[in-house]
Amino acid sequence: SKRTIVTMPGDGIGKTVLPEAIRVLEAAGFEADYVHADIGWEFWCKEGNPLPQRTIDLLEKHKLALFGAITSKPKAEAAKELAPELQDKGYVYYSPIVGLRQHFDLDICMRPCKTFKGNPLNFIRRGPGDTIEEPEVDVVIFRQNTEGLYVGVEWTNPPDEVYNALMTHPKMKKFAWSPKEELAISTRIFTKKYTERIVRAAFEYADKFGYKSVTVCEKPNVIRETSGMMLAIGKEVAAEYPHIQLWNTNIDAQMMWLTKNPEDYGVIVAGNMFGDIVSDGFAGLVGGLGFACSANIGKEVAIFEPTHGSAPKYETFDPPIVNPIAMILTACMMLDHIGENDKANKIRQAVADVIAEGKVRTYDMLKMRGSQDVIEKGAATTYQMTDAIIEKLK
Ligand code: NAI
Ligand code: MG
Repeated sequence: SKRTIVTMPGDGIGKTVLPEAIRVLEAAGFEADYVHADIGWEFWCKEGNPLPQRTIDLLEKHKLALFGAITSKPKAEAAKELAPELQDKGYVYYSPIVGLRQHFDLDICMRPCKTFKGNPLNFIRRGPGDTIEEPEVDVVIFRQNTEGLYVGVEWTNPPDEVYNALMTHPKMKKFAWSPKEELAISTRIFTKKYTERIVRAAFEYADKFGYKSVTVCEKPNVIRETSGMMLAIGKEVAAEYPHIQLWNTNIDAQMMWLTKNPEDYGVIVAGNMFGDIVSDGFAGLVGGLGFACSANIGKEVAIFEPTHGSAPKYETFDPPIVNPIAMILTACMMLDHIGENDKANKIRQAVADVIAEGKVRTYDMLKMRGSQDVIEKGAATTYQMTDAIIEKLK
């Protein structure tokens, strides 16, 4: 039976790139029904809720979704743009994508960063003599998506019971000089259950797709309780996979190494913030936002989204010129998730062929010309890029 996929284009270029990904899915012979769901800025302004209940109901029913991008603005600014009849009703803006991750407990975030040969945006390195090397990056980052430093358990001027409890910690004594009102605290929370889930997901993936290493990228020597817990669980789980090496890096050193030897890494697992940081770093090596895709996977629901946002600067271009590849690779992750790996690989190969040929490039795919001092922007529209990929699928 055909799958039903919930589509949430959202705002700005989300509305442009999501239909392009569906065109590619169809051209690859993937048959599904698509049902549109409302999300984003428009619904905040009109209804005071960027994530309407009817959208949550659709996700609960169908479990599988493609998401474009949304526009988010700070709370104060958001309040002003609310429809006049909704003003002063107590609506508070929140990010609907963060809301979705929390509501559906989408705790596993997967971000592959893979070099497409010939992409003019690829990381290059000076080799011996005058040679230039183009290392092939093939990294998949597993980022814990619901805990860590991003949980929002924080205070400025903490309540007395929190303050007093903290003050019983010997290391807090050195902060006793600060007025309580001037003390800001953000907590970093790891649970054993969810830390183990993300570490296991990383090893299972490495095992399934033949990666030789899993790197726990944290800072266990300094952040002993939380990073330390992830590393300890890493060691436990690694014992079940003797053919996969367990590497342990610190986030700071990892950022340095990824600018020197990014091709050495395979699967990387990290908590919420360090996973966020390291995945942006690797994404930059393989072309940046036009190529970065991601998945948010929970026990029941999975939502696939490109890393980029709504790029308001580009939403009014007609025809549109943004790069649809990030969204198309995002759709491939969805195919992988439901076991349609052949179709996903076929699409990725078509993308690789178009990039390697270098004839069709969107504006972000800058290229050096001649003496290397002239930078040439790609001139293809979003539609032309999609068409070129579809042409390769035939
Ligand atoms: P952005 O990712 O929307 O765009 C930044 C710049 O990256 C663009 O101006 C453009 O030059 C380039 N870019 C992004 N996607 C591209 C594509 N597919 N092809 C070619 N170039 C591309 O980030 P920005 O400008 O910081 O945020 C804009 C809005 O998007 C904000 O309201 C922000 O809150 C929201 N946002 C939403 C996200 C989401 O929906 N998950 C993630 C990041 C930002
Ligand atoms: Mg980020």
